[in-house]
Amino acid sequence: MQRRSQDARVDPARRPGTRRRRGLRRRLPRPALAAAASILAAAALLLPASSSAQQGPYPIFTEAHLEATMTTLGPNVAGVRAALAAGDHSTAKERAIRSREQLATTITFWRDRDRDDAVGWLRTALNRLDALDTALSVESVDAAAAVAIGDEVAEACNSCHAVYREPDGDGGYRLRTSALP
Ligand code: HEC
Repeated sequence: MQRRSQDARVDPARRPGTRRRRGLRRRLPRPALAAAASILAAAALLLPASSSAQQGPYPIFTEAHLEATMTTLGPNVAGVRAALAAGDHSTAKERAIRSREQLATTITFWRDRDRDDAVGWLRTALNRLDALDTALSVESVDAAAAVAIGDEVAEACNSCHAVYREPDGDGGYRLRTSALP
């Protein structure tokens, strides 16, 4: 009787799976496990933010994402141009950088749909926002030149809107789905 129960205790430890688990526990002291757990928890916190917009190897950027991004981008770019007109170059620069970040996320939408023309306008708009950032990053800003770059940014926005955006009949806009394949 006693001999059998000893065998029962020894047996599971001989199975490879059990041995591996015990080995892992021995190699990783508790503080290391706790650190690993908190790293995983931190990574989990980052996930919702990254899946909602652009990141991940194959992110899904829906029409709703496009509309939401455009809706926040509009006032930001309007703010850039108002700040340029008022000669408030630090506000203009801040909002131009933010606008660039927002607009850049939308490239996935057009790539997923093989819209090379849209990708082209998008890149042009991003390049012009970069040029604006550069123009606003010098000691003495050429105010008129900065305003002109602001106009060029808006032109790039409008090139895409002319093809892929239409009024939604309710005072707003929507994607012109008829322009998509
Ligand atoms: C590559 C194409 C493309 C580019 C570039 C682009 N947009 Fe758009 N934008 C769209 C499409 C498509 C819509 C319609 C989607 C919607 O609103 O549902 C839209 C909608 C908008 C709207 C209306 C949002 C709403 O529904 O009320 C604003 C504002 C806007 N864009 C601003 C901008 C600004 C500012 C830029 C340039 C910095 C820009 N867009 C660049 C494609 C583009």
